[in-house]
Amino acid sequence: MSFRTGPSVFKDRGKVSFDYVPDKLPHRELQVDRLFSIFRPVGDSGLAANAFLYGSVGTGKTHTAKRFCEDFRLYANKHGRGFDHVHVNCRQKMGDDAVLLHILKHFDARFPDRGFSIPEKLDSLRKWLEKQQVHLTIILDEVDVLLKKSGSDLVYTFSRFGEEAGKGNVSMILISQRRDAIDRLDAAATSTFRRTNAVEFPKYSEEELADILKIRVALAFHPGTVDDKIVGLIADIASDYGDARYAIDLLEGAGAAADAEIAGEVGPEHVRVAKAGVTQSDLQERLAEMDRNQRLVLLGIARKIRKKTYITTGDAEEAYHVVCEEFHEKRRAHTQFWKYLQDLDAMGLIDAKKSGEGVVGKTTMISLPGVPAKVLADNIESTLKRRKAM
Ligand SMILES: Nc1ncnc2c1ncn2[C@@H]1O[C@H](COP(=O)(O)OP(=O)(O)OP(=O)(O)O)[C@@H](O)[C@H]1O
Ligand SMILES: [Mg+2]
Repeated sequence: MSFRTGPSVFKDRGKVSFDYVPDKLPHRELQVDRLFSIFRPVGDSGLAANAFLYGSVGTGKTHTAKRFCEDFRLYANKHGRGFDHVHVNCRQKMGDDAVLLHILKHFDARFPDRGFSIPEKLDSLRKWLEKQQVHLTIILDEVDVLLKKSGSDLVYTFSRFGEEAGKGNVSMILISQRRDAIDRLDAAATSTFRRTNAVEFPKYSEEELADILKIRVALAFHPGTVDDKIVGLIADIASDYGDARYAIDLLEGAGAAADAEIAGEVGPEHVRVAKAGVTQSDLQERLAEMDRNQRLVLLGIARKIRKKTYITTGDAEEAYHVVCEEFHEKRRAHTQFWKYLQDLDAMGLIDAKKSGEGVVGKTTMISLPGVPAKVLADNIESTLKRRKAM
């Protein structure tokens, strides 16, 4: 067998992958300045600080928070203070217990999954912080999932952490796509998140996206393989959403399409091919985090809800049964099905609400808040099939 090979347009494809955190985030200087003014007392006087970052998909919230913490560590160190941070994706680590476990594993990778209560875990965390003499910033990303699932106890606990000693040793950065996410905090916890600690991440303009893309082109591609017209085209497409992730995914996809043809450079048609294959938003990433049963339930809902605004849970369960047959999966019992619905609701993939007046008895009505049903169904189907083919 011989492989058709040719020079790739990529010099370092990792630089356009989703987990690469760039050194500099252009057009986020304002947000970084705000974060610095909020966190300054942590470095200068060892006090705790809390910030809330919000803005729509792909506006740089996660990467700005991570980059900021890495850079702030140097500032704190210069002032003779230890500083560390841990990032928790609350959509993956749902519930107080899972969040705490993730934080503890940052200090001790072998911390046991089971056998310790929440108070015991908090105690362990205290000991680690004392032992290592660090101030810990906990980034609670997609925090609305945690708040919806478990309420604000944990956020409150963290906001009071280390207070006995007169100084806080835990700070928090909460992140959400929704500005109203912190409205879910109860009164006690809200007082620590004054409005002034909220930092907005607006959508990127076309010019801003073009700047971001140009830097990535220089890092990831060989010189002369992606010209400014291509960058402009991608920025134009992505500016409908102001979403940098979408822009970078398109860039990577276009490069891959060029390589598939051994074209040697990226042309407009490669961008179009990429556009057909890349879905806006972090849908793929989200689906990869879900277990198979959750995906089967969601697929049923996505299929049933085409052309409708709402469906009942009864409709959803029926559709789920049909999907199970199609994919040769054992269907789960009603109570388990309910649990999946609640998970999907907490993840923000569906919206489940009790029906109002006019309907006999109270039923729960389901709607799809974000992604079009067809896009969702197609994406789930491809993940389910891929699994089976392996
Ligand atoms: N200003 C920027 N400069 C360079 N790259 C950026 C910038 N903003 C975002 N990105 C890149 O875009 C992608 C999405 O950014 P990020 O994950 O931080 O978005 P987000 O606001 O957290 O989105 P979501 O709400 O979907 O989680 C990442 O690959 C990130 O590196
Ligand atoms: Mg994010």
